[in-house]
This record gives sequence, C-alpha cells and structure tokens, in this order.
Amino acid sequence: MPVKIGFIGAGRMAEAMMRGLIAEGVYTEKEMIACDPIAEIRERVAKNLGVAVYETASEVSKLTNVLVIAVKPVHVSGLFEKEGLKLGSNYLIISIAAGIGIRTYESYVPDARIVRVMPNHCCMVLESASAYSRGSRATDADIDLVDEILSSMGLAFEVKEGDLDAVTGVSGSSPAFMYMFAEAIADIGKKNGLPGDVALELAAQSMIGAGRMMLESGMTPKELVDSVCSPGGTTIEGVKVLEDRKLKGITGEAVEAAIKKSRSMG
Ligand SMILES: NC(=O)c1ccc[n+]([C@@H]2O[C@H](COP(=O)([O-])OP(=O)(O)OC[C@H]3O[C@@H](n4cnc5c(N)ncnc54)[C@H](OP(=O)(O)O)[C@@H]3O)[C@@H](O)[C@H]2O)c1
Repeated sequence: MPVKIGFIGAGRMAEAMMRGLIAEGVYTEKEMIACDPIAEIRERVAKNLGVAVYETASEVSKLTNVLVIAVKPVHVSGLFEKEGLKLGSNYLIISIAAGIGIRTYESYVPDARIVRVMPNHCCMVLESASAYSRGSRATDADIDLVDEILSSMGLAFEVKEGDLDAVTGVSGSSPAFMYMFAEAIADIGKKNGLPGDVALELAAQSMIGAGRMMLESGMTPKELVDSVCSPGGTTIEGVKVLEDRKLKGITGEAVEAAIKKSRSMG
C-alpha cells in the first residue's frame, strides 16, 4: 500500500492527527509515516498507532510528497538549513507550526505547494477547531485534501493568512482559557459539597453542551444566555456577577494577548 502522507515530528499534535485520520478512515496506519529524533517517541507512536516512524525528515520525504510539518516552530528552520530538506513542486507542505508564515516556507522551498494550518489540540478527541490558508502555489486539489484531513477531526475553515493570528487566539489558545473557566466552576462545586470528579465532569459536559447549542441552535450567545436566565431565577444572579466583574473585557484581553504573541512570532 503506497504511503500517502508523512508527519515531520511525531509529538502530541502529530500523534493526535494520525489517530484522528485512522479513526475516521481517511488513511490507514500503513498509508502514513512519520519521523522524530526521539527514540522513545518513535517507539510509542509505532506501538500505539502501527505507523512506521523514521528518524529523519529526509527519509520521510523520499517515501511521500505530502508532508505535515509538526515540529515546534523553533525547529522549522533547522529542517531546511541544517538537515537540508529539499522539496520541489511535486511536494505539498501542510504546516501546523504556529507563527511560521507561508513566506518563510517559500524562502526555503520556493517551488513547493504550501498550506498553513492552525489546528487546536482538541483534535485529540476529534473536536478540533482549525483554520488554514493557501500559499500561492497550492492547488484546489491540495485545499480539498487539507480540508478533508482537518474535517475528519473537527471543524475547518479556509481564511486569509493574515487572519491566522486571530485564529490562534480564538481557537488555538482558547481551549486553555476554557479549561480555566471549567476549573473555576468545578472548584466552587467542590467547595459546596460535590465530589471533585463529579464537579469537573459536570462542568466539562456543560461546556460540550453549550458549544453544541451554539453550533446547532441557530441562536446567538446573547439569545442563549437570555434563554437560560429566567427572571428571579438562579442563573441571572451569576450572570450579573460576571457582567459586573467584566468577564467579557478580561476574556477579550486574554485572547488579544495570544493574538499579539502570534503576530510577534510571525
Ligand atoms: N499543542 C497545541 O495545542 C498546538 C495547536 C496548534 C498548533 N500547534 C503546533 O503544532 C506543532 C507541534 O506541537 P506539539 O505540541 O505536537 O509539539 P511536540 O509534542 O514537541 O512535538 C514535536 C516533535 O517534533 C520533534 N522534532 C523536532 N525537530 C525535528 C526534526 N528536525 N525532525 C523531526 N522531528 C523533529 C520534536 O522532538 P524534540 O522534542 O527533540 O524537539 C518533538 O518530538 C508546533 O509547531 C505547534 O506550534 C500546537
């Protein structure tokens, strides 16, 4: 069976993406390969997923011309400058490295087709919110492939590259903000007598449910808040506190900080 896609870097994101692709039947484990310098990671991914994992990117690039760059952003330049990875127009590069622009890739491999992606780590449970941007040489077929890959692990939207910094704040970093919010909710549940694990699961499921309501009800967040708040009821009391204490402003500042950092990295 021919290899169809290779992951450069087999860390957390690559493993999660490969897991999603297998689970959704987009690729079999034999159609994917990966590489990683760390022997322990190579062994883990091979054992967990049945995917062949090599040591270097050049080994992977000899076996497939669709490459997902899944190393940390600081390691991207090393692939081309130190390891001397050379990729021509027959290669599609799908980069998930935060903050590394299409132009940077085009300076290393001017002929390759580039698609820059910002997934989020919820791809581990097939609930990623991703966005992607095409480089000047990427074809419609490339975009269809990237969309199929990302849609197999959640929602995916094509955006202009300049908007990817905003995506980084809105969906790349925001799961961390949601975890903090859930923890704060669960902590008070615990303080008021609930077992900690029950409080956390109730908070987590409420987030899943609220997310699904936003995606499926056709209602705006404001309409949804109003629909939960009956006059004189319990929820309105909490909503008043969040409004008085400027939840929207603080959350906005957090998202802005992540966007600003993403811009500075670019
Ligand atoms: N985690 C997230 O929520 C998230 C969300 C969106 C995008 N991303 C992006 O996804 C990328 C991967 O993140 P991650 O959390 O999966 O990182 P990670 O767990 O550190 O995985 C990256 C792996 O690539 C390996 N590597 C480094 N240089 C390499 C090379 N030259 N050839 C092959 N493999 C190499 C690393 O080994 P060493 O440890 O030895 O360096 C590491 O095992 C990052 O660029 C990040 O910006 C992450």
